[in-house]
Amino acid sequence: MKKRILVTGGTGFIGSETVIALIENGYEPVIVDNLCNSKEAVVGRIETITGVRPIFHPVDCCDKAAFRKVFEEEKDLYGVIHFAGLKAVGESVSKPIEYYSNNLVSTLNLLDLMREFDVRNIIFSSSATVYGVPERVPLKETDPVQSATNPYGETKVMIERILEDTHKAWKDLNVVLLRYFNPIGAHPSGLLGEDPNGIPNNLLPYVSQVAIGKLKFLSVYGDDYPTPDGTGIRDYIHVCDLAEGHVAAIRKLADNPGVVVYNLGTGKGTSVLEIVHAFEEANGVKIPYQIEARRAGDVAENYANCDKAFEELGWKARRNVLDACKDAYRFQKMNPNGIQ
Ligand code: NAD
Ligand code: WQD
Repeated sequence: MKKRILVTGGTGFIGSETVIALIENGYEPVIVDNLCNSKEAVVGRIETITGVRPIFHPVDCCDKAAFRKVFEEEKDLYGVIHFAGLKAVGESVSKPIEYYSNNLVSTLNLLDLMREFDVRNIIFSSSATVYGVPERVPLKETDPVQSATNPYGETKVMIERILEDTHKAWKDLNVVLLRYFNPIGAHPSGLLGEDPNGIPNNLLPYVSQVAIGKLKFLSVYGDDYPTPDGTGIRDYIHVCDLAEGHVAAIRKLADNPGVVVYNLGTGKGTSVLEIVHAFEEANGVKIPYQIEARRAGDVAENYANCDKAFEELGWKARRNVLDACKDAYRFQKMNPNGIQ
């Protein structure tokens, strides 16, 4: 029998790509998403790509009664991948109550239902943001988790702690904390990708919208960082590699690992200007940009040491930023107004 995996936030950017990877690797995903930041059309696109229409429940994880019905209906769940959450750093500063409430209540409801229905495996979407301002790079899983500078990041720190404490009291619960670095790119079909509302906050969606002429130019936030070209350095990971990392994490659950944590990145840093040039090279387009002041809260350099994921999960990123830029542009051209 196929292992059944509940995927909260499964119509979102990373969740939808992971649902595809699950189907392709012989799992049966069950999606729960309230569509606050994604479209139901994603379910049909997953079907077009894989030939399988995943089960979809349009449910808010904060609505415990509705969420319980999903658990009652969907028997024999092997585990949960918990993507559901609000994720915009800047918005979280102006809407702290919404962010703490959505991200924490959804997780607490989920854990309580997992206990009630004896579902013993959870993989959580954490973030490099839990390392705060890094003292050194590359970041290792053993580096300290620090209080974040914004409510979004703080929810990740808090949820990691909640999951660790729950394991202490419920030893049969396995917890895999996956700390993502900067996910970019799109499905190579061009059918699925990042579809932010309004003006994008993140670099790649912004560059993609400049490339199709929807936005005039890119603002490069600072060229006076202590990096080779002065612009900020990040670890950009293709979303398809990230999705495969989740499949590797599910396989790890068979060892009953308790609480384990893995960085999912490429291990390689890329500057803002290198991304601009990679996008131009990959797609034969020009990306006009202007250098502007640093963005508040940004660090100079942030990239991962991913040796642990390779040694213990047998996973590493296979795609590079050129692949990601090609895929992101294809998605943007095919969906100039997002997924409808
Ligand atoms: P996304 O917004 O595309 O996906 C999140 C999904 O969760 C959306 O489809 C949204 O509708 C859904 N959702 C939100 N609250 C919900 C609720 N209460 N009940 C049900 N569904 C709900 O974001 P993403 O980029 O795919 O991120 C997925 C996860 O990974 C998030 O937890 C995010 O914090 C984390 N993460 C993302 C990044 C990144 O840069 N994209 C980096 C590190 C960690
Ligand atoms: C990348 C680089 C910017 C936009 C965020 C979250 C982090 C994680 C991933 C969830 C930086 C520069 C950007 C622009 C620019 N998400 N930039 N012009 O800030 O590394 O990480 O997403 O967990 O928590 O903070 O990603 O894509 O916003 O920025 O110059 O218009 O691009 O200064 O150097 P960031 P980003």
